[in-house]
Amino acid sequence: MKKDKPNGKKQRVVTTKTVVGMKENGEKIAMLTAYDYLVAKYLDQVGIDIILVGDSLGNVVHGYETTLPVTVDDMIYHAKAVKRAVKNALIVVDMPFMSFQTSIDDAVRNAGRIMKEVGVGAVKLEGGAYIADIVKHLVKIGIPVMGHLGLTPQAINKFGTYEVRATTKDEADELLSDAKVLADSGIFALVLEKIPSDLAKKVTDSIPIPTIGIGAGPHCDGQVLVVYDMLGLTEEFKPRFVRRYSELADTMRDAFKLYIDDVKSNTFPTKKESY
Ligand code: KIV
Repeated sequence: MKKDKPNGKKQRVVTTKTVVGMKENGEKIAMLTAYDYLVAKYLDQVGIDIILVGDSLGNVVHGYETTLPVTVDDMIYHAKAVKRAVKNALIVVDMPFMSFQTSIDDAVRNAGRIMKEVGVGAVKLEGGAYIADIVKHLVKIGIPVMGHLGLTPQAINKFGTYEVRATTKDEADELLSDAKVLADSGIFALVLEKIPSDLAKKVTDSIPIPTIGIGAGPHCDGQVLVVYDMLGLTEEFKPRFVRRYSELADTMRDAFKLYIDDVKSNTFPTKKESY
């Protein structure tokens, strides 16, 4: 179904099927994260394909050092705000740490809560071949799954760093094999985070479903960034894969300073701004 966008172009309602079709048609997929109503509304208005309610909200919204403390309730709370704003984009919600790794039953219960209580299009699970049975089961009961390989922040305590992943031949072979197993298990798309471009190309050429890269080079079928990174709000975080499309931290500080000055000097509010 196509609807009018503010710029007059027709905007489609994006489903998991649309996303798979985009790879087949050679159309790049644009995905960004969102955690609240207004950001989701503006992303949707300008035609983003996929909005990811990422568990990165643990870092950028809640200020945790890692994503591990994020709960299913946190994800549902933020996803509901996003859902209220979105008319066209596909919304994907991260399954947080320990919400699916423990058993197929837990995965079904928690993914089921996200799908039922929010009403989104899909969930995303971090992990390789060892989660294949969980993925297969979710897909079988009607819950579309996006995979996530490479730098998987929920496994930070295993790796100890946020450096580039799969740089040795053995690790690259394992990642490629994981990607094939996940694709065979029924995922509709796969996030590849912080891996060498050549490996991302190999994965992209080897599986029938789209790859969506973050720090994985230009050969992926789509790209994703954390929205606060690309807006320049997380100003200390400067990995080379983040292109800053704005410097909103500066813009916000400037606005806040002007407001403080206006209040202190009693130039706000004026008569026109009063009743
Ligand atoms: O949580 C998140 O925002 C993510 C993206 C970085 C892909 O998983």
